[in-house]
Formats: sequence, C-alpha cells, structure tokens
Amino acid sequence: MGIVLQTDRLVIRRLLLSDLDSLFALYRDPDICRHIPDAPRTIAEARVELEWHMNGHPQHPELGLWATIDKDTGNFIGRCGLLPWTFDGQAEVEVAYALAKGYWGRGLATEAAQAIRDHAVGALGLARLICLIDPDNQASIRVAEKIGMAFEREGRDTIGPFHLYSQGRSAQHL
Ligand SMILES: CC(C)(COP(=O)(O)OP(=O)(O)OC[C@H]1O[C@@H](n2cnc3c(N)ncnc32)[C@H](O)[C@@H]1OP(=O)(O)O)[C@@H](O)C(=O)NCCC(=O)NCCS
Repeated sequence: MGIVLQTDRLVIRRLLLSDLDSLFALYRDPDICRHIPDAPRTIAEARVELEWHMNGHPQHPELGLWATIDKDTGNFIGRCGLLPWTFDGQAEVEVAYALAKGYWGRGLATEAAQAIRDHAVGALGLARLICLIDPDNQASIRVAEKIGMAFEREGRDTIGPFHLYSQGRSAQHL
C-alpha cells in the first residue's frame, strides 16, 4: 500500500485520507510547528496538504510528503519526504521531516532522513539535496548534519529567514 521505503524501525509510505486526523494532530502541536511556519493551521488546510501529496507531488510524483509509521505499533508518528522548490531559478529538492513529540530523541528522524537521502540519491538519482532550516532549530540542524549536509548559505523567503544546508553538487535540474 504505497510503501516508499522501510528502515529497521519505520515504514515510510504514501499518505492516505485516513491519515488526516493523525496528520492534523501533529500540526496542532506548537512545538512541531514552531519551526515550520507554513504548516497547516486548520484541519481543512491539513486535508489540502494531504490530498496534494497523496499520489506524490503533482508535478513530481516521485517526490512528496509521506506518512512515517512506527513498525512496532503501526502508529502514524510523523510526516517526512522530499519536496521540490525553486530558488534563484534553480530546482532544488528538500529532505523534510517532522515527528510527533513522543517519538523525539530516539534517533528516528535521523533514521528516516538517512533512508530518504539514500532513496533520493540511489533510486531517484538526485545529485543534490537541501534542507531549509530555521536557524534556531538545533534538532533539525543536527539531523541534517548527521545525514551529511553542511551549511551553505542564509536565505529569506515569504515565510521568513532560513539556513540552507546541502549535500552534493551545486546545480541540479529535475
Ligand atoms: C527535528 C526532529 C525531526 C528531530 O527528531 P528526533 O527523532 O528527535 O531526532 P534524532 O533523535 O534523530 O536526533 C538527531 C540529533 O539531534 C539532536 N537533538 C535532538 N533534539 C535536540 C535539541 N532540542 N537540541 C539540540 N540537539 C538536539 C540529537 O541529540 C541527535 O544528535 P546526536 O546523535 O549527535 O546526539 C524533531 O525534533 C521534530 O519533529 N521537530 C519539529 C518539526 C521540525 O522542526 N522539523 C524540521 C523542520 S526543518
């Protein structure tokens, strides 16, 4: 059922409509959204995001936000994935991750992000990956560093300032 990849402890699969309550529960936690300023604020917005990504990102179906499932319990514990962006005319793909607070501190985000990086580089052949991170988000910076990303530059967009971390070569065309 839409499995993208698996790790020792996680199944990462396409989002289903039945994930809506779990996805919105994630976004209702201010500690999750503090560093994700464009996160959905209402269940209607969460549904729009979910439907947008259900079959993969509409323009790049191999990318998208995916459900992150704890293998032990079958619980939906977060959403992660690969998101396409364009900055300064350059196509970029971001490794994205967010986990429910009860699952923080167990190395699960690193495990998910590593597997997504390997999938992006191996199965999808992407030569460059980025993470866009709020400079105050030490946990996310650490995850990015642990999967091999390094600080590249500061940036700012409509939703505020970010630090761009990257790995791989400096130009890429999707
Ligand atoms: C970022 C996030 C996914 C990390 O999840 P996690 O499963 O706790 O991360 P891990 O257990 O894999 O830990 C990764 C590293 O970050 C470190 N870390 C975790 N929380 C930290 C914190 N608050 N401050 C500093 N370092 C932290 C861990 O110690 C670990 O590093 P180490 O192995 O060198 O000790 C989680 O905090 C989260 O979902 N935050 C809200 C959503 C978010 O900010 N997403 C990223 C948007 S760019």
